[in-house]
Amino acid sequence: MGTHEHSHGHGHGHGHGHGHGHDRFSDEAATWDDRPGHAERATAVAARLRETLPLRPDMTAIEIGGGTGLLSRALVDDIGTATVTDVAPGMVEVAAGTLDDPRYAGWSARRYDIEHDPLPEERYDLVVALLALHHMGDIPTVVRRCVDLLAPGGHVAIIDLDHDEDGAFHQHLDDFDGHHGFTREDAHRWLEAAGASDVRLTDAGAVTKETEDGERDFPMFLATGRRV
Ligand SMILES: C[S@@+](CC[C@H](N)C(=O)[O-])C[C@H]1O[C@@H](n2cnc3c(N)ncnc32)[C@H](O)[C@@H]1O
Repeated sequence: MGTHEHSHGHGHGHGHGHGHGHDRFSDEAATWDDRPGHAERATAVAARLRETLPLRPDMTAIEIGGGTGLLSRALVDDIGTATVTDVAPGMVEVAAGTLDDPRYAGWSARRYDIEHDPLPEERYDLVVALLALHHMGDIPTVVRRCVDLLAPGGHVAIIDLDHDEDGAFHQHLDDFDGHHGFTREDAHRWLEAAGASDVRLTDAGAVTKETEDGERDFPMFLATGRRV
């Protein structure tokens, strides 16, 4: 399975969740859902989550680095309510607009920097993050915070790029300062270190992307864990 995505150049970059770094994603927010591959990717990942986790219509979810909330919205028939969060104000604004629909009664979007903001008091039955962590800095800390957001019995699902040896996925960004994907061993270790139980790593499809060497598939993993 591959979902298509086209490269796009950027005149400015982003940092590790602070400073001018949010501009890129805020600027892209208005057209995010219409970019080739984006919605399809969220739909495909939602199907994987449905197969992998015991989703229930009374579940509360929080999406981390959720952008416009594509993944949460793809789960609307499977969960109760979702809080879509992102560090980029432009993304949060677009996410909030999409949730202004009776299907999403009780849902909300808010700005939240998982790396630097204090942990909120609420706890959730489901914490999801799709292609978000590789844009952050200290990943073991972010994974721990994701697990800390879980209510007892809750599930965390992190979907991200497998380790991209030659950095081809982000080659179009001159000043990319995130991670070129992660090894599944690292993801497993970080979740266990954060106290998650039943940690599992499985395939989550691929992002098909135009690179300097033509079209390539970049595989993704799904890392899940549970809080007892
Ligand atoms: C590649 S986009 C993915 C968006 C969405 N999950 C999707 O799949 O369409 C990565 C997102 O992570 C967000 N992000 C980066 N650092 C963050 C942080 N420290 N806290 C919260 N969100 C962050 C960015 O603003 C951006 O919206």
